[in-house]
Amino acid sequence: MTLIDARNMPRHVGLIMDGNGRWASQRNEPRSEGHRAGSRSVRRIVRLARRIGIEALTLYAFSQQNWARPDDEVTALMVLLQEYLLSERVEILGNGIRLAAVGELAELPASVREVLEPLCRDSQPNDRMTLTLALSYGGQEEIAAAARGLAKDYAEGRIQLEDIDASALGKRIPSQRVGQPDLIIRTGGETRLSNFLLYGSAYAELFFSERLWPEFSEEDFFTAIASYQGRQRRFGQLVT
Ligand code: FPP
Repeated sequence: MTLIDARNMPRHVGLIMDGNGRWASQRNEPRSEGHRAGSRSVRRIVRLARRIGIEALTLYAFSQQNWARPDDEVTALMVLLQEYLLSERVEILGNGIRLAAVGELAELPASVREVLEPLCRDSQPNDRMTLTLALSYGGQEEIAAAARGLAKDYAEGRIQLEDIDASALGKRIPSQRVGQPDLIIRTGGETRLSNFLLYGSAYAELFFSERLWPEFSEEDFFTAIASYQGRQRRFGQLVT
């Protein structure tokens, strides 16, 4: 097993779970089966992250751009989300996990919101790990909404022009409530961020895995953390 240093864990890990469709194609199965297998990976990795003391885990579960996928695939993903939230309710509440969601949540079907909202509310007091689902999420859209909020405050006289800086903007970025990601992992072999956590990723360490998300194992997660731990983070400064 890959050895990791418990004293140098990434506090916040972001996950781009890519490769479900290709995993299904390799098996001549519909894409929805890839997403189903992907949701089994979600269960496995969330459990592991909590066990090894990751404080915040943000999952890119559905992007703003994913709405443009065929209707049957979007429906399958929404059903899987609802099933996940229903089946993991006890696990989340019983294991100290606080569930949060970021993105244009009003665009989600009522069937998802009706299970998501109570679980976010009921798990709010938990403090062992914050699990954030990015749903109907876009990093550019999130920044635009924050900018709109600042512009409104300025127009209505609540803030001065000089008050608008990176910190003021950051405070209005919902995905930043758990702090900036230290490590972003993308599975499936592509090496891009695809509109995920754009504001917070300024100094995130990036790890790209060839593994398709349904096959992403505990060992793969440890490998990503070990890679993170082997890096020197400088945040634009010099380290002497
Ligand atoms: C990208 O793979 C993955 C998604 C668009 C959805 C991710 C969803 C899940 C892992 C399952 C449901 C989520 C939860 C939280 C239970 P892709 O379809 O783009 O893969 P491809 O690049 O191989 O086509």
